[in-house]
Amino acid sequence: MGIYLDNAATSFPKPKEVSEAVYDFMTNNGTSSGRGAYKKAMESDFIIYECRKLIGELFNFNNPKNVIFTSNVTESINMVLRGMLKENDHVITSSLEHNAVWRTLKTLEKEKNIDISKVKCDKHGITKANDVEKLIKENTKLIIFTAASNVIGTIQPIKEIGEIARKNKIPFVVDGAQLCGAYRVDVQNDNIDILTFTGHKSLLGPMGTGGIVINCDYNIEPTKSGGTGGDSAYEYQVDYYPNKLETGTLNVSGICGLRSAVKFLLKEKVENIYEKEKNLTEYALNILSKVNDVEIYGPKDSEKITPVISFNIKNKRAEEVAHILGDKYNIMVRAGLHCAPCAHEIIGTKEVGTVRVSMGYFNEKQEIDKLAYALNNL
Ligand SMILES: Cc1ncc(COP(=O)(O)O)c(C=O)c1O
Repeated sequence: MGIYLDNAATSFPKPKEVSEAVYDFMTNNGTSSGRGAYKKAMESDFIIYECRKLIGELFNFNNPKNVIFTSNVTESINMVLRGMLKENDHVITSSLEHNAVWRTLKTLEKEKNIDISKVKCDKHGITKANDVEKLIKENTKLIIFTAASNVIGTIQPIKEIGEIARKNKIPFVVDGAQLCGAYRVDVQNDNIDILTFTGHKSLLGPMGTGGIVINCDYNIEPTKSGGTGGDSAYEYQVDYYPNKLETGTLNVSGICGLRSAVKFLLKEKVENIYEKEKNLTEYALNILSKVNDVEIYGPKDSEKITPVISFNIKNKRAEEVAHILGDKYNIMVRAGLHCAPCAHEIIGTKEVGTVRVSMGYFNEKQEIDKLAYALNNL
């Protein structure tokens, strides 16, 4: 089986209910949603509707129609940024963004001449919310922040930034990829206007699922058009959610799996998942800091990070370390830039990358012991 410590890329294993739900749907239903009036199609409609409701419950949001399904958070972020930013708009973002945000912004800089400001943070990825306010200009049209770094795990002051955004009437978009499911995310309490999420990381759902929670009246122009299953004689994209942004056949089998995953999270409770993962992180920080010649990046405080730890071993390339761990010990970790070069600029590893260990709900302390043993024997 091996030891899987790459949960920041995608979580594994999934709760068995998730794969069973996908199998059951594909074997016994298999129909499209929003298109038919026969019984099985109505069942598909119900699966989709119930999943919207459960996602809402998880993020304290009670308007299921404003929960939009996409194929992953990258698609969600592209839809939001492209659907909201116009020529010469100014946007504020963190210094830790994943390429899902950063490349999209850089592409829009080329295409629409948008102006990008990065909020500075310290070498541990700690951002001060007040620094966001200092960057606001007359043409600031959006603030987008990752909720937590996928390289060093640092959790960002989302609630405080949201408060600043509200005060200045600027839409606040959050990339929830690393936080959703691992930590309490509450769109009301955290002042989040638009939450983007992916289904296959800490939400424990299947790949190919993700979405957008639209907790505001700001307009997101559709960037795709096509069939929505209703109003078919109308020649343009409809103007109401979710159909405005959901076009083409939905991934009903995946969403069926996501529905089971969210039910699992609600049953286990995110608070309990957080506690377990926090303890594991504390344990891992402690034990890894004793490994010979190790340098750990980011806050060495389990309260400030998600279960993600980046490190290097002196005189060893990150790729080499990950390769030996995989080859000799069957321990699966990731090496490199983790699609987030900006974060490596902050910790000074843009040229060399890092080894990243990321834990999930199903990891145990003995697995961290085995990792430390392997690292000490490199
Ligand atoms: C912070 C962050 N944003 C975006 C993404 C992209 O996720 P997906 O590939 O599911 O779109 C990731 C995945 O690594 C991430 O960690």
